[in-house]
Formats: sequence, structure tokens, C-alpha cells
Amino acid sequence: MALYSEKVMDHFTNPRNVGEMENADGIGEVGNAKCGDIMKIYLKIDNNIITDVKFNTFGCGSAIASSSMATEMIKGKSVDEALELTNKAVVEALDGLPPHKIHCSVLAEEAVKAALKDYYDKNNIPYNKDLFPDCDGCAHCADH
Ligand code: FES
Repeated sequence: MALYSEKVMDHFTNPRNVGEMENADGIGEVGNAKCGDIMKIYLKIDNNIITDVKFNTFGCGSAIASSSMATEMIKGKSVDEALELTNKAVVEALDGLPPHKIHCSVLAEEAVKAALKDYYDKNNIPYNKDLFPDCDGCAHCADH
């Protein structure tokens, strides 16, 4: 069996929604303490709906594929729906990642969450802090 699925290779070689965004409504940047890779996600949000998503990463191929898939999965969704995105769902949508690459998909999930938190903060929207375990410095990834 190939190490990477066709979907991973597709999203790695032809990533969707790459770039930056002016006047983003939410920006999330997270880093993986172990590998040093960085992920940045930009959201455009109108009436609680994510109308556009862009991402930039200094990350590995799995991080690129994961964030490309994650942006496709949250585009057009409500903020609440996007908050439910898990790295597990991203990995499933990619038809799997090798075990030692799962943490790369965590980077995508955390960047989406950080961007949504930024949107809440900028607009003074109250939220349940439990939704955003502190990922500054990527303490979560440091466990890998
Ligand atoms: Fe760092 Fe994949 S090895 S994100």
C-alpha cells in the first residue's frame, strides 16, 4: 500500500485555497513545537457563514494536504459547524495519513480554531472558553 493516499497526493500537489487575505475577519496562526512548522488560516465571515478561506503554511506535505482539505470542509459552513471540525475528520476525508503524520492534521484543526477565536475576539462575541484549549506555543503538539 502506498504511504500516502491519492487524496493526500492530490491536495499536496494541487492545494486548494492557498494564499493570504486582505481584511480577513479572523486569522489564526499556530506552530508545532516539535517540528517547528507554522500554519496560518484566514477567514472571511458574513452573517455567521464562512464565505472564504485561505491558508499559508511553512509545513510539510501532510500539513499542506490537511489544511487544503480543512479549508474545503469549512467553506460555506457556519462558524458553529466549523468549530466542530476535528483533525480526525480531516484525516478521514484524506483517506488517512501515516501515524507519524497525524500531528500535521492537528496543526490544521488548531489553525482553524485559532482563526475562529480571533473572529469572536475581534467582534466581542462571547464564547465558551473550553472550546479553545490554549494552543499558544502548541502545547498540544509538544506531546507528540
Ligand atoms: Fe510538521 Fe507535518 S511535520 S506539520
